[in-house]
Amino acid sequence: MLEGFLNRYNASMDLIESIQHALWYLLQCISSGNVLGAREHAFAIWYITLGHHFAIFEEKCTPVPRLVAQATGVTLELGPGSGNQLSRLDTRYVNKVYGIEPNVHFHKILKKKLSDMPDLGHKYTIVTAKLEDEQALREHDIEPGTVDTVLCMQVLCSVKDPAAAVKQIYRLLKPGGHFLYWEHCRSSDVTTRMLQRMWNIVWRPLIGGCSLTVRIDEAVQKTGPWVVKESGHDEDPHKLMPRSWAHLRKPEF
Ligand SMILES: C[S@@+](CC[C@H](N)C(=O)[O-])C[C@H]1O[C@@H](n2cnc3c(N)ncnc32)[C@H](O)[C@@H]1O
Repeated sequence: MLEGFLNRYNASMDLIESIQHALWYLLQCISSGNVLGAREHAFAIWYITLGHHFAIFEEKCTPVPRLVAQATGVTLELGPGSGNQLSRLDTRYVNKVYGIEPNVHFHKILKKKLSDMPDLGHKYTIVTAKLEDEQALREHDIEPGTVDTVLCMQVLCSVKDPAAAVKQIYRLLKPGGHFLYWEHCRSSDVTTRMLQRMWNIVWRPLIGGCSLTVRIDEAVQKTGPWVVKESGHDEDPHKLMPRSWAHLRKPEF
């Protein structure tokens, strides 16, 4: 009982610290006069500043490096953000990578990282668009049935309609194409779910529209069929950001 309470308390404290940082960057952006685009800009500063902590956590405690290294052929990296996954892509296997990044405040750091990675840099194109923006994707010849891999690391929490986004991913994949994701999602525990809904009130507006209660697995299962190469999820019922991940393939026929 006490252990459960302490686990919940510790999980909440993590969010409080992140929220404090995000609020601070938001106030800075607003006070510099950038009121309209303040939320997007502040989120990018927050993510870029804390990005190396996330990268270390992913490296030590998650399947992310292994999943990213399985990208192959024509790859869409959805929401590359500050570019934490770039060094994990195996340049022997990807021929062309499109980084679909609507938040332009991430582009400078992405370009800088890519300029230091010649093997990847010449294969990587940053596309200023959302996954849902079919016209913008078409301008880069990203058409339904043309993509070998979609890489999606903590992006579906921020899209408006995750179920529609997964359908769009399915449409874009070639038969036999790979869908690799690692996402945080709605908890299976009732109390944690209540806390997630409560935290969403401040978390979403400050952290780039990120929702703590996205039903990723449901959205993925409703789309398909898929061939499951790997799938897993965090078991801890107290976690406010339990992760779910998978390597799925669109069937060949
Ligand atoms: C939490 S960050 C994840 C960054 C990166 N994938 C990583 O692993 O570090 C979420 C990213 O998704 C992007 N994003 C939000 N909505 C999107 C959409 N509809 N289509 C593509 N990217 C989107 C955001 O701009 C942001 O860069």
